[in-house]
Amino acid sequence: MRVLVTGGAGFLGSHLCDALIADGHSVVCADNLLTGRMDNLAPLANEPRFEFLHQDICVPFDPGKIDYIFDFASPASPVDYLRHGIETLQVGSVGTMNCLDLARKYHAKFLMASTSECYGDPLEHPQRESYWGHVNPVGPRSVYDEAKRFAEAATMAYHRYHHVDTRIVRIFNTYGPRLQINDGRVISNFMKQALRGEPLTVYGDGLQTRSLCYVSDEITGILALSRANDHWPTNIGNPAEFTILECAQAVLKVSGSTSTVKFEPLPQDDPKQRCPDITKARTLLGWEPKIELLAGLRLSLEYFRSAVESQAVRAQK
Ligand SMILES: NC(=O)c1ccc[n+]([C@@H]2O[C@H](COP(=O)([O-])OP(=O)(O)OC[C@H]3O[C@@H](n4cnc5c(N)ncnc54)[C@H](O)[C@@H]3O)[C@@H](O)[C@H]2O)c1
Repeated sequence: MRVLVTGGAGFLGSHLCDALIADGHSVVCADNLLTGRMDNLAPLANEPRFEFLHQDICVPFDPGKIDYIFDFASPASPVDYLRHGIETLQVGSVGTMNCLDLARKYHAKFLMASTSECYGDPLEHPQRESYWGHVNPVGPRSVYDEAKRFAEAATMAYHRYHHVDTRIVRIFNTYGPRLQINDGRVISNFMKQALRGEPLTVYGDGLQTRSLCYVSDEITGILALSRANDHWPTNIGNPAEFTILECAQAVLKVSGSTSTVKFEPLPQDDPKQRCPDITKARTLLGWEPKIELLAGLRLSLEYFRSAVESQAVRAQK
């Protein structure tokens, strides 16, 4: 297949490009580098089946005939979407609709990268796909949550009205190599602080939970969904649940750091609990995550170590 990956220079998009190339496909990556980096695509630099388009997907574009679109373009970390609030709303609405128009034009299949943030600060636990969520539509995080909810609605509408063959993946917190170290997410924050010997910042009392999926598990699940025949949202994430304090302990153990923990006030609308119910993915796709937290942190350590070192070198220049 000739596959378009929007947001392919980002954390997840670049791993997806690697996996698609490894599976024998040709890949066109469209990215405006708002939060992504060309470094993430370095392994594909000399790959003849890989093409990079420096492209804002909010502007209509046409990469030529394509068979599948993976729509992953969007700032994704709280730091990024709070900094780029308007761009986040635009890419989830105008950008996604431009990609859906391309899918319609070329009769391409379409997979939209949605998020557990669609559930907001959930009142149901763990979150099943049938739960409609508890989202503050006017809070600071609404630029992301509502953009993704709109993108889901647009995807379903193109399926219903234009018969586009669509899929929606609700991605839960994912971590691993290429996660930006300044993105404010729990693992990157803790890894960076642990490796620098600084105290690990825990917001609130640290008893709020997160479930964290290692990137190779997430990509395997997304690719399995891309081959399935189901148009409704599907959760892909790791249901093993850890408190933020337990995550901090795990990072300290894997990094061998002697850092302490410091507590700060909880940011507005920070979800207290997030955990996917993956019954649907297990049944429909026969998929479940295989890599446990400590193993995933060990697989990520080398990347974070070199990212922290290169940041320190840049700061000295
Ligand atoms: N990483 C996670 O844990 C997670 C969780 C839930 C959902 N997701 C979703 O997965 C997708 C990828 O997330 P990520 O963690 O890789 O984020 P990322 O910031 O690393 O990657 C996003 C990419 O999209 C690009 N982009 C943004 N706006 C664009 C535009 N207008 N045109 C073209 N490219 C644009 C960025 O430059 C970047 O390369 C996002 O849609 C995100 O919402 C990620």
